Amino acid sequence: MNAVEMKGITKQYPLVRALDQVDFVLKKGEIHSLLGENGAGKSTLMKVLYGMCKPDAGEIKVMGKTAEIKNSRQAIELGIGMVHQHFMLTPVMTVMENIIIGQEPVKGIFLDENKAREEVEALIAKYNFQISASEKVENLSVGEQQRVEILKAIYHGAEILILDEPTAVLTPQEVEELFTIMRELKKQGKSIVIITHKLKETLEIADSMSILRDGCLIESNVPVENANEDDLARMMVGRDVSLGIIRRAKDRKEACLEATGLMLHSRGKDVLKGISLTLYKGEILGLAGIEGNGQSELIDVLTGCQAPDQGTVTKEGKPLRGNARDFIEAGIGHIPEDRMTQGLILERSIADNIILGYERREKFSRKGILKKKEIDTYSARLVEDFRIKAPDADVLCNALSGGNQQKVVLARVFSEDPDALIVAHPTRGVDIGAMEYIHNRLLNLRDRGKAILLISADLDEVKCLSDRMAVLYDGQIVAEGRPEEFEDSTLGLLMTSGRQGGVK
Ligand SMILES: Nc1ncnc2c1ncn2[C@@H]1O[C@H](COP(=O)(O)OP(=O)(O)OP(=O)(O)O)[C@@H](O)[C@H]1O
Ligand SMILES: [Mg+2]
Repeated sequence: MNAVEMKGITKQYPLVRALDQVDFVLKKGEIHSLLGENGAGKSTLMKVLYGMCKPDAGEIKVMGKTAEIKNSRQAIELGIGMVHQHFMLTPVMTVMENIIIGQEPVKGIFLDENKAREEVEALIAKYNFQISASEKVENLSVGEQQRVEILKAIYHGAEILILDEPTAVLTPQEVEELFTIMRELKKQGKSIVIITHKLKETLEIADSMSILRDGCLIESNVPVENANEDDLARMMVGRDVSLGIIRRAKDRKEACLEATGLMLHSRGKDVLKGISLTLYKGEILGLAGIEGNGQSELIDVLTGCQAPDQGTVTKEGKPLRGNARDFIEAGIGHIPEDRMTQGLILERSIADNIILGYERREKFSRKGILKKKEIDTYSARLVEDFRIKAPDADVLCNALSGGNQQKVVLARVFSEDPDALIVAHPTRGVDIGAMEYIHNRLLNLRDRGKAILLISADLDEVKCLSDRMAVLYDGQIVAEGRPEEFEDSTLGLLMTSGRQGGVK
């Protein structure tokens, strides 16, 4: 039986045909991976199914019955749930309150809290969600918040669950926890669509897959069983992709950026506890660690977004002071952790975003007046170089797919030729073709003598690109060495306990 059948789905935006006659089938009880490059139409197709995006043509059947899905409420009534990459929870409310919004069990006119609590707790236990219903959402980790989103969809009766890049923001440990839950949901007969750019994950979790390219479905319902990563890459991108080929730097030891004794107290605790590190010219230093151990604050301090309570940051011997703009002027590039809140102004064009923070450069402005023509030519070139999928650079960033937004941030920072780069999660949400391109650009910057600090939740990425690695745990650097000196198991222990062998 098919849980979902979509036929002839077409969606035309003013300048882009996002979906072109797409036929998509999801079988009941399967985990189906929807693959495709950035901008291929994956999110759009799933938003059509979830009633968030109205197609121009096509028809949808849910559990065998023709359905007209005009909005998400109708989708939910049909048993469809969707977890977006950007969570839509209310931080100040509890898990429980977030889950029952929109469907409070009513006793008389009062909310029957006990009944709701029992139901939610039964679900938590059944699927082993490992969260507490009374905890406030703001106190939860990213992985836990995601579990709340899934729980919420199930509580509202989802039999069909859509997960749009659920793993992009998770640590490897959290990914495994998510997969355990997905397997359990499948066992209970639920049908799941997962979108991911990590081919390894498709191979691990999915039963079958479909591939979109430029709005067209080019492969449908291919069994995953006998496929390997190279096959998937080739089908998706249309050529061979070479990732993970290690090219280490030549030994060069000229310091560029130096941090000494950084201390920072924030959110009621010490988050940086005396961090010292040196970024050398022509070297990538990879920082491994589980989110929440001080990486965000360290990035903030190294990029001038926040001043440390104690300690200094110097570049080639000179102290760096001031705000983020001063740091940019001093030649420190910054790829921020979260492109939605820090990296981009979504309501502005690609061109505006490409010069964001660099407006004062001579090539972009003269006496405070922007050089429109130069900016246009420059941004048009970057759109092409970075293969940002957009008709032109005047397109607003909120009309771009997730991966293409990320490419705008990278295009801006990489092209400004900074001396040192603080790079957080550079390939989060980008497809493997783009990942290959970004890795090559990073290695190329390094080979040209730039000093790079790479922070990534993707350990494979850190290990493959770094010349030197450091592990951050609880506001301190607990180990440092060459990537090949770290066994995976040692690294895991260092990241979770700060110790190489056993409990702290
Ligand atoms: N609101 C919109 N207005 C105009 N164009 C849009 C809008 N939303 C999406 N598009 C375009 O539709 C195409 C498909 O976008 P979609 O978000 O579905 O891609 P995707 O496959 O999810 O990519 P990614 O892997 O980067 O998330 C893209 O070219 C995108 O720019
Ligand atoms: Mg998408």
